[in-house]
Amino acid sequence: MQKEKILVIGASGQIGVELTMALRKIYGNANVVASDLREQNPLLEGTGPYVSLDVMNKEMLHVQVIRQNITQVYLLAAILSATGEKNPGLAWNLNMQGLLNVLDIAREEKMHKVYWPSSIAVFGPTSPRQNCPQQTIIEPITVYGISKYAGEFWCNYFFQRFGVDVRSIRYPGLISYKSAPGGGTTDYAVEIFHDAMSDKSYECFLSEDTYLPMMYMPDAIRATIELMEAPADRIKVRTSYNVSGMSFSPKEIAAEIQKSIPDFKMSYKPDYRQHIADSWPQSIDDSVARSDWGWKEEFSLAAMSKDMLDNLRQQK
Ligand code: NAD
Ligand code: SER
Repeated sequence: MQKEKILVIGASGQIGVELTMALRKIYGNANVVASDLREQNPLLEGTGPYVSLDVMNKEMLHVQVIRQNITQVYLLAAILSATGEKNPGLAWNLNMQGLLNVLDIAREEKMHKVYWPSSIAVFGPTSPRQNCPQQTIIEPITVYGISKYAGEFWCNYFFQRFGVDVRSIRYPGLISYKSAPGGGTTDYAVEIFHDAMSDKSYECFLSEDTYLPMMYMPDAIRATIELMEAPADRIKVRTSYNVSGMSFSPKEIAAEIQKSIPDFKMSYKPDYRQHIADSWPQSIDDSVARSDWGWKEEFSLAAMSKDMLDNLRQQK
């Protein structure tokens, strides 16, 4: 059997750094090529191959795939919800064309697998707010959500029509201590830990009772790898899977942090991101991912908060 050689596109981002390191543990450092528009990432430096690459440049991407004998791509390059609303045209171009470039090359080069993440941002104000199911009314209001929903159907199309084994998860907001988030509506749930450690205070851009689905990064990385390693006949959904970790409001995460930093103070100044957050479900039903490929989260709000604070203290 041909050895797997993996290209991670967008490897310097919030997910990319940790996913690249996790894939390197499984497949060997030399078999996981990290790539990004950014020249290098200090957290990845010295851990394996890194190339500077623009996913929009299809020719150069194709050259890299052939030159490096790539058999799997993890495509993480995207513009997220909040940044996307500032430049909708740019977000649409990158989020759509980047995906189409990868899917086309995957088909042509008969790649073994492709991973591309979608988001809870596909859901909109007409979707159920609680335990939002896998299949439901989906009418996103952000350019990011529109691009993710369209992307899900491109993935399904390339699987049905050309047999490209592309797999996807609708991530909730992701919380991590290694890499900073890149312009999403859920970024407050990472910033709050850093500000709690440095200033013992945080001004939140969402209101105190804004519940959103969230997940700790170790769970997200494990979900991604479990999905990608599942036998193909277990993958029944070829658009994108709902997965759930936890659900909380700014007030609840502040209270959790106060258990460890009692004089931590939270204030609220909602901005344009409130409108985006209000359009998303508060919690997600992921029963289909659970029954198809055995997904189960490990981290609760309390366990995640403790681990975040322990690790940030160690980093100081
Ligand atoms: P990020 O913004 O942290 O990282 C994206 C990376 O892509 C950056 O390092 C950036 O330099 C790179 N990039 C941008 N344009 C590029 C281009 N033209 N060519 C190559 N690289 C380019 O994003 P992330 O949070 O790591 O998200 C990764 C994926 O997961 C995205 O598709 C995102 O929509 C999805 N997702 C993330 C979250 C989350 O909470 N982080 C939630 C749901 C879905
Ligand atoms: N965390 C992401 C965002 O807020 C969800 O896709 O954009």
